[in-house]
Order: sequence, then C-alpha cells, then structure tokens
Amino acid sequence: MQIQEHVELAERTTLGVGGRARYFVELKAEADVPAAVAWAEAHDLPVFVLGGGSNLLVSDHGFAGLVLHMAIGGIYDSCDSCESCESRELGEGVLEAGAGELWDDVVAAGVARGWAGIECLSGIPGLAGATPVQNVGAYGQEVASAITRVRAWDRAQSEWVELEAGACGFQYRSSRFNQMDRERFVITRVGFKLRPGGAAEIGYPELRRRFPDGAPALGAVREAVLDIRRGKAMLAGQVRSAGSFFKNPVLSAGEWANLAARVEGPIPQFAAGRAGIKVPAAWLIEQAGFSKGYRALAGGVGLSPQHALAIVNRDHARATAVVGLARRIQLAVDARFGIRLEPEPVQLGFHPGEEV
Ligand code: EPU
Repeated sequence: MQIQEHVELAERTTLGVGGRARYFVELKAEADVPAAVAWAEAHDLPVFVLGGGSNLLVSDHGFAGLVLHMAIGGIYDSCDSCESCESRELGEGVLEAGAGELWDDVVAAGVARGWAGIECLSGIPGLAGATPVQNVGAYGQEVASAITRVRAWDRAQSEWVELEAGACGFQYRSSRFNQMDRERFVITRVGFKLRPGGAAEIGYPELRRRFPDGAPALGAVREAVLDIRRGKAMLAGQVRSAGSFFKNPVLSAGEWANLAARVEGPIPQFAAGRAGIKVPAAWLIEQAGFSKGYRALAGGVGLSPQHALAIVNRDHARATAVVGLARRIQLAVDARFGIRLEPEPVQLGFHPGEEV
C-alpha cells in the first residue's frame, strides 16, 4: 500500500473539475482497506472512497484528507475463488462483483449468463461498489431489488460485515451508505441475486415501445438501453458531466395541485407509488428557461445538448462555475414552480455553504 500526495482529482471524475487530494491510495485488495483507514485515523484525516468518479463534484480546494481509490476487482458466480462466502446460493444466479469492477461489465456478465435482473441498468458509468450507495436505477429497474448482500469494512466496529439488502435502507437514489451511515462503511464486494433464464423487464414505456411483440432476449434489451442512453449522451465518455445533476422531485398531492395550477397542458410524470408523484427534473428545468445545450455566458459550463438534467463542463470549467449554474437553475425552478431541486452527485471538499 503506497500513499501518494497531492493527486489531481479532476481527471479521475467524469465532470473533470476540482482540486487535488492531499493523500491518495489505491486499494487493490481487501487487506488494504483496514490498513488505509487506520493510517488516516492515526493522522486524524477524513477519508473518501472514490470509485469511477461519475457521480462526483470535487471542490476547487480539493480534499484535505485521504482518498481511497477502489480497485478491488473480480466477478464471480461461484464461491470457488471467494473464501468470504461459503454458503452462497450457488446455481441460483448470484453474481458477486468486487467493488472496483466497472458496473457495465457486471451487467454484461449477467446478460451473458442469461440471468435477468440488471439488464436495464446497462451503460451506467461508474463502479459496481458505488451502485448500492445511491441505489442506482434506470428504465424501470433499481439495483436495490437485485442486491442480496453488501460486504464492507465497518469503520464504527472495526470489522468486516455482510449486510443483507434489508439492512441497507434503500430508497429512491439513497441508502444508509449515503444517508445516516455516510463514511461508516467501505464497500468491497456486492452480491446480486439474478434470475437464470428469467424474462427481461421492459416496464418502462420508452423501452416497451421498442419491443411491441414483447419477450425480447436480455441481450436485445441491453442493446436497446445502450442505444437510448447513447441518444441522450448518458454513456461514459460522451460528455463531461456527472449524469443527472438533480434528483427527480417527488411531489405531495398539494405540491402537485400547485404545479398543475401553474402549467398549461400535460405535465410528464413517473409513478412513485405511495410516495407521491415524481416529476422529471429535466422537464422542470426546461420549463424554467434552461434548454438542452444551454451555455452560460462565463465559466465554461452549460447543459448537455441531449439532456437538460446533465450539467456539462464545456471548457476548462471550475467547480465554482458548476455550483453557480446549479444554483441558478434551482432558483429559476423554485421561482417558477415553488419546487426545490436537490442535487444528485456527491459533493466533496466544499466548505460549509459553498456547495449546491
Ligand atoms: N425531459 C425533458 N428534457 C430533457 C430530458 C428529459 O423535458 O432534456 C423529460 C421528458 O419528459 C422525459 C422525462 O424528462 O420523458 C424523463 O427523461 P429520462 O427518461 O431521460 O429520465 P430522467 O428522469 O432524466 C432518470 C434517472 C436516470 C435514468 C433515467 C432512465 C434520476 C435523477 N435520473 O432520468 O438515472 O438513467 O431516468 O430511467 O432519477 C442518474 O440518476 O444519475 C441517472 C442517470
């Protein structure tokens, strides 16, 4: 384990802004995790786990602690090479991934085996270990419904734990890992319980339209999702962005009535069960005057030409410019609709009051 100093973080994020990490270490094996955490604690430093950097906004000051860069790989569908999981449901479609695996490689591995459950999550940038943190979801699927266990180093108890899905506190784009237990766990491995030979899920209208005869193969659904995401520039490397910059707000009946009173014509919406009515933030943003392809007058920031929900770094942007644009969007949506948009990416290294 080698601790590096003053490491640039911008190039390790998809948005490409922000300063340096004071200390930085690559985690290649589980044994590195307690060692790195102990080093940071001995030096009284905060730690931050960096995955693919695809949902992250780093401040221009950088981070004055130790960044743990997750590089523990491996995709397993048997326990042969995995001493930590003797009694897994072999043959029941449990796929285990090291936290440092590319998420899309995990999806591809599930699809290649003919195991259903995560095919709609194709093409999402980032690493497998990050998926439980924000309960990644798209096109009608959420990882929460596939996850069976999360293995992690528990900093509070100084021990390895295996958390069942029910103990992860999953909700829309959230879990205990980004809510009350933020910074407590370092996730090293995630198990997904898939359905061998199961049918693909094509509940999402945009996807269903592509398969009018129903019952497509998993591979065809994966290709369709990749194609849809490509059309929205939401695949890794298409634009410098952190994907969706805001969560889709879930409105109460009263908030919905208030919105409907301010809008002429239909309002797009997603079903959000008992929670309320979920409205696309991208639509609110466009209605509030920020169109796809918007360019700020200064600061090198704008919105993706393909999707109003993605703030993009067009030209050597700084984090302050990203925050400035995000705040202007929040103000415009609030003024027009009385709805407060919440940022979706993790924000690192900001002083109090500086972040979105
Ligand atoms: N829309 C606009 N303008 C746009 C784009 C979209 O008005 O520029 C409206 C349209 O009415 C469209 C609706 O927004 O029908 C929804 O758009 P889209 O299907 O692209 O989904 P989204 O709500 O923007 C969510 C997730 C994505 C996920 C997609 C697909 C959130 C915050 N975002 O985006 O997840 O890939 O659905 O299921 O929940 C992420 O969370 O970072 C993420 C990328």
